[in-house]
Amino acid sequence: MEFKEIIARRHSVRKFTDQMVDREIIDEMIEEAMAAPSSKNSRSTGFMIVEDKSLLEAISVMRESGSAFVKDAAAAIVVLGDTSKTDLWVDNASIATTFLMLSAVDKGLGSCWVHVNERPRSKTDASKGMAEDYIRELLGIKDNMKVLCVLALGYEAE
Ligand SMILES: Cc1cc2nc3c(=O)[nH]c(=O)nc-3n(C[C@H](O)[C@H](O)[C@H](O)COP(=O)(O)O)c2cc1C
Repeated sequence: MEFKEIIARRHSVRKFTDQMVDREIIDEMIEEAMAAPSSKNSRSTGFMIVEDKSLLEAISVMRESGSAFVKDAAAAIVVLGDTSKTDLWVDNASIATTFLMLSAVDKGLGSCWVHVNERPRSKTDASKGMAEDYIRELLGIKDNMKVLCVLALGYEAE
């Protein structure tokens, strides 16, 4: 696909068909995102692929609003930043996520960035804690890795 077309077509997709996404396609997306630049070539960004339906459902309730549609996604990519490699992990992970979103369009997929970093699970009940802590425990993420966002992925429903 022409670059201009990719840019024009990219939009946030929150409604997905039941069609699965081949693992090779997701692997290729990650390979392309790994070509993103990083501060001092620190390569701090990590990716976790989630395809398990029950985990997608669990991720969908990480926040009271803004994440519910993840349960209907075919897959999700959790975008992580290694704080032991750079203090600019957010910047690096954000650029890589942008690459992922554009790569998704090129493969005929829809995606939506669901934010995690520094987001509370509830806007009204602080006792529910932070979305990141919830995801960290759910997926067993190591202490040196921060979670920027979850990219919901799938074929767009009409
Ligand atoms: C940093 C960032 C955080 C976002 N967080 C969420 C989110 O938590 N939930 C959601 O549904 N969309 C989220 N989005 C998607 C935006 O709402 C969306 O990109 C914006 O409304 C523009 O729409 P478009 O992507 O279709 O052009 C996020 C986007 C960015 C860049």
